[in-house]
Amino acid sequence: MNRDFITGEELGAFELGKLLDRAVELKAGRRDRLGADSLAGRSVALVFEKPSTRTRISFEVGVAELGATPVVLRGDELQLSRGESIGDTARVLSRYVDAIVIRSGSHEAVAELADAAEVPVVNALTPLHHPCQALADLLTLRERHGELSGLRLAYVGDGNNVARSLVIAGELAGVEVVVAAPLGYQLEEGHDAKLTGDPRDAAAGADAIYTDVWVSMGDEAEAERRRADLAPFRIDADLLAAARDDAVVLHCLPAHPGEEISAEVLYGERSAVWDQAENRLHAQKALLEMLIGD
Ligand code: CP
Ligand code: NVA
Repeated sequence: MNRDFITGEELGAFELGKLLDRAVELKAGRRDRLGADSLAGRSVALVFEKPSTRTRISFEVGVAELGATPVVLRGDELQLSRGESIGDTARVLSRYVDAIVIRSGSHEAVAELADAAEVPVVNALTPLHHPCQALADLLTLRERHGELSGLRLAYVGDGNNVARSLVIAGELAGVEVVVAAPLGYQLEEGHDAKLTGDPRDAAAGADAIYTDVWVSMGDEAEAERRRADLAPFRIDADLLAAARDDAVVLHCLPAHPGEEISAEVLYGERSAVWDQAENRLHAQKALLEMLIGD
C-alpha cells in the first residue's frame, strides 16, 4: 500500500498513538541500536529545495539508524531544476528508492509528486504544512505531561505551516490547541481549534506555549511589516506567567531570541525546545517504519 504523509491527516488517532509509542521505544533503545534492521536494504530520497538543519539531519541520521540508505538531494542538483516535470521525477525516483521525503516552497508541487510517485512521499515542510514537526511536538508534550488527551496548547504568533500542522495533529491526539495571532496572520477557520487575537487569552491555563518564527521561508519580502505586526505576540516571562505553573515552552526552531521569544524564556528552565528538536529524530524514525517497514 502506497501511503503518504503530507498534511498529517493521513494518520488516524489510533495510528498516531502507536507511532508515538514506537518513538518513545526507539528513543529509549537508541544506544542499543533498537530498530537497526527495520529498513535494511531500503533507500530513502531526501529532497531539500529549501534550507534545513533539524529536518535534514534528523532524517539522514534516522534513515541510517534504521539500516536504510539516505540519498540526500538539493533541488538544484535534480533535472527538475532544468524543467523535467514533477511527475517524471516522481516516476523515476520511485524506481530507485522506497520513499521520498521532500521540503519544497510549493505545497502543490509536493502534492503532485505524491500523486505521481509509486512510493510513499513525506512532507518535510511546505509553506502550508509541517507535519513531521507536529509529531515531535506531540512526543515532547507526552514526555513532559504524560497523557496528551485533555492538554491545552497555546500557539502564539504567525498562523503558519507549523501552527496548521499542530492544530491537525492536536485534534487527532485530543490536545486542545488555541491559536493567538493578529488580524491577517490567523489560521483559516474550519479546524478544530480556538482562534483568538489575544495571546493572554490563549496562554491562560495552558500546559504548553508554542511559537515559531515571524518570517518564514518565502516571507522575506514582508519581513519588516511582519515584525511590527507580530511584536505584541512575543513569548516572554510575562506571557508565560499566564500559563499553568508546570507549562513548558515549545519552539520548532530556528529561533530569533528577542523577536518571537525572549532569550530568558528560550534558554530558561521551562523551555523544552532542545528535547523537541531531538524528538524529530525519534518521531520520524517511527514514521518511516510505519510507512515502509515490514
Ligand atoms: N524545525 C525545522 O523544521 O527546522 P529546520 O528548518 O532546521 O529543518
Ligand atoms: N514556519 C517556518 C518553519 C521553519 C522550520 C518556515 O516555514 O520557514
